Amino acid sequence: MLSYLHGFHAGNFADIHKHHLLVCLIEALNRKNKPWSYLETHSGKAFYALDSDEATKTAEFEDGIARLWRAYNQPESVANYVAQVRLVNAEGGLQRYPGSPALAAGMARDADQLHLMELHPGEAKQLKKAFAGYTNVGVHHRDGYEGVLSLLPPKPNRGVVLIDPSYEVKTEYDQVASFLPKAIKRWPNGCFVVWYPLLPADRWKIMLEKIRCSGIKNILCSELTIGDAEEQGMYGSGMLIVNPPWQLDQTLNLSEPWLVELLAQRAGASRRLYWLAPPAEDC
Ligand SMILES: C[S@@+](CC[C@H](N)C(=O)[O-])C[C@H]1O[C@@H](n2cnc3c(N)ncnc32)[C@H](O)[C@@H]1O
Repeated sequence: MLSYLHGFHAGNFADIHKHHLLVCLIEALNRKNKPWSYLETHSGKAFYALDSDEATKTAEFEDGIARLWRAYNQPESVANYVAQVRLVNAEGGLQRYPGSPALAAGMARDADQLHLMELHPGEAKQLKKAFAGYTNVGVHHRDGYEGVLSLLPPKPNRGVVLIDPSYEVKTEYDQVASFLPKAIKRWPNGCFVVWYPLLPADRWKIMLEKIRCSGIKNILCSELTIGDAEEQGMYGSGMLIVNPPWQLDQTLNLSEPWLVELLAQRAGASRRLYWLAPPAEDC
């Protein structure tokens, strides 16, 4: 079932959480003068017009990137992320939102390599079109789990895999939990990032427990709770990071409390950063 279209949700609070963290990861990679690989299982179409029928119908971006766009005193890592969003809005106003492939490609240097998977035919077509002129970006119209696994370990041998399903189908929680150990076995030094929605049904908690029990080490989790857990629908956003770069936790501790305050949709919005599994040497 491929009914999900990210155009309805692009730039919402979950995208802010996910994409700010992604920019932090790529900045960490760019600190070294060595090329990296970026692989994505669920890419979407990369660029989203905020005046499209989809975006205006839900207007989710109004409580996400639009709040950030207007905000002063942004912490350094947030300002770096907003600078990437500004790059695709050269006219000055907020008109377009860059999805994860656009952010990664925008921060890539000549020797860095990107491999983007997308299964939806229409989205894959637009993704191919978006990166038609790029020699270092490969777009693959195929299942993301299968496609990424077939490329591991990648060359260059340092970098990030982003796993960002829509979780419309309940089995996706299990798919992620079984994909991760296989992928890490093939690329033990890769940084793997999984986005998950905080929903009242708590399936994400079961997924995290399965991942913890798989024996994978060095897993950091960042969770923002923006709305009310008692109500229907997504009340927060989670990111699981295997093999996070050095001091990522410190960077997030400086920026995410500010982000939560900005994105809050109720009093008492909160944030949690914790080790789901400690680094191997701590055991
Ligand atoms: C949440 S969206 C991706 C958003 C994107 N990662 C971003 O942050 O800008 C999920 C995407 O995965 C695609 N998709 C769903 N199942 C897939 C699969 N098995 N393999 C590859 N893509 C898939 C959907 O068509 C959709 O475009």
